[in-house]
Amino acid sequence: MCGIVGYIGDQEAAGILVEGLRRLEYRGYDSAGIAVLNGGDIQLRRSVGKLPALIDLLKEKPVHGTLGVGHTRWATHGSPCEENAHPHLCCKENIAVVHNGIIENYVELRKELSEQGHRFKSQTDTEVLAHLIESFYTGDLAAAVRQALGRAQGSYGLAVVSAEDRERFIAARKDSPLVLGLGERGTYLASDVPALLPYTREIIYLQDGEIAELRRDAVQLWDAHGQPITRNSEIISWDAAMAEKAGFPHFMLKEIHEQRATIANTFKSRVSLEPPAVHLEDSLPVKIAQAVPRVCLVGCGTSYHAGLAARHWFEELAHIPCDVEIASEYRYRRFSKDRNTLVVGISQSGETADTLAALRESKAQRFPVLAVCNVLGSTITRDADHTLYTYCGPEIGVASTKAFTGQLTALFLLALYMGQSRGTIGRSQLYRHLKALSHVPAAIHHFLESDHGIEAIAQDIQGASSALYLGRQINFPLALEGALKLKEIAYIHAEGYPAGEMKHGPIALIEKGMPVIALAVNSRVQEKMRSNIEEVKARGGKVIALTTEGGLDTVRKADHVITLPFLNEEVSPLLSVVPLQLLAYYTAVAKGCDVDQPRNLAKSVTVE
Ligand code: M6R
Repeated sequence: MCGIVGYIGDQEAAGILVEGLRRLEYRGYDSAGIAVLNGGDIQLRRSVGKLPALIDLLKEKPVHGTLGVGHTRWATHGSPCEENAHPHLCCKENIAVVHNGIIENYVELRKELSEQGHRFKSQTDTEVLAHLIESFYTGDLAAAVRQALGRAQGSYGLAVVSAEDRERFIAARKDSPLVLGLGERGTYLASDVPALLPYTREIIYLQDGEIAELRRDAVQLWDAHGQPITRNSEIISWDAAMAEKAGFPHFMLKEIHEQRATIANTFKSRVSLEPPAVHLEDSLPVKIAQAVPRVCLVGCGTSYHAGLAARHWFEELAHIPCDVEIASEYRYRRFSKDRNTLVVGISQSGETADTLAALRESKAQRFPVLAVCNVLGSTITRDADHTLYTYCGPEIGVASTKAFTGQLTALFLLALYMGQSRGTIGRSQLYRHLKALSHVPAAIHHFLESDHGIEAIAQDIQGASSALYLGRQINFPLALEGALKLKEIAYIHAEGYPAGEMKHGPIALIEKGMPVIALAVNSRVQEKMRSNIEEVKARGGKVIALTTEGGLDTVRKADHVITLPFLNEEVSPLLSVVPLQLLAYYTAVAKGCDVDQPRNLAKSVTVE
């Protein structure tokens, strides 16, 4: 939700800021802007829409200087127009601010500052920060930022530049991520690691309440109480190429293809076959795995769907009662959990505000909290008691794909590990599941190598205004996930439904030509999908059936059939979701939609 970049060094800042924004554009793309210091002036360039508009503006009106900040916006307060685009300036136009988050008391601050004579030019909450900092500024920018933040309520990741100080700029965070990069040619700031990768892999995560001063060759950090602190930098293993498209037309397609490797990365160092064992002791102590009476999985969007699928594994393999909750609902619900329930927060980014709040609430209630997360060092991993990482590398496409299968893999391992620790799963059963898991990467590879006519199916359904996805048991969450993908990138209304529920309502929607995607892959309830398909066909619906080699008879009435290689039922969701991702992808492409940056969305939702 909004991307921030900053640079101070010996190179021209504009190119570095724009490149950083390009790599952060998945966080928001309503408008973009930069502020670069030149002599005693702040040069401001802002434009509405995606980054190319800003690039064009900079060609027409270039800026020069070696210190600057930039921003790509996902609008919260105020429409996406130039006045509301960041950076925002104070009255004297000598302080510029970029901000991610929400200043909740901005209305009263704005009133107070207006009464003092400050003139506002935008409708944003952020602009109050520029004026507040101006009102406290007496030559020490860090001190002015600290005093201003003392008055602000809400969340922020921000960067502040003063025209009077060419030697430094200031960053601060509360509930909104910021990473500092230490490079040979200067010091960098970004909301997320991919923006830093072309310049450095040496980073420092800023933590909540902290303020940082960035100079050309050094950084200074202060804690929430204003005390100076030192923190060692870390070297991250991601490299710049991982955040590029590598010849694919879109990040989403690249990330779909990467799943073969990312699933393997997530399990390979954690399992052994002879003897069969899952090694997650580093993520969750055996004692906890043995003792917890219940598991509660919490997440948003795709991460929530991963939790819904994983519930089957916790119940079947570890015999543990399992609840699955949408984080934004969970945080306000008063429901009783058994003491010591293990609360598992699932999040690709590790920054989703609702998931973070749900985990904090759980921690406050003294439940053990485990994060299943993809981003090293993200807020959720720092807040949780324990972390189980998915090793998917940076996911840039707004529509989550490889993170989903990474989460499924991690949660499958966790369920097996808990079953192993509690003795609910025997050696041969464990061996069978681990062996099946080891076949998944090759099955995905095999599937992606051959043509299944998915582009042609996408052409056939691209004109639809609505679609229904049906699945049973572990395939029901996949139906939800398939529908979410179609909604978010192809803008087709879609619903996922448990197939058995269709006749209790949604069947009324089916009319001639309506696409119904039936997940009829191998499972103990596969045969039950046959009657659902018949019912849809009887009402003129267009059935796109997903089945497994050997299951063709069940889906013989379907209009289109996509056949998957055979996999053990428990691990089959890791493969079955791939054609659903591709179907949404090709439908979006056929409709000319912007696949990687769908309208109104942002990759990480850091506001409530
Ligand atoms: O980073 P998180 O996994 O916490 O994000 C959760 C959701 O915002 C995310 O999965 C969202 O639903 C995706 N756009 C789905 O493709």
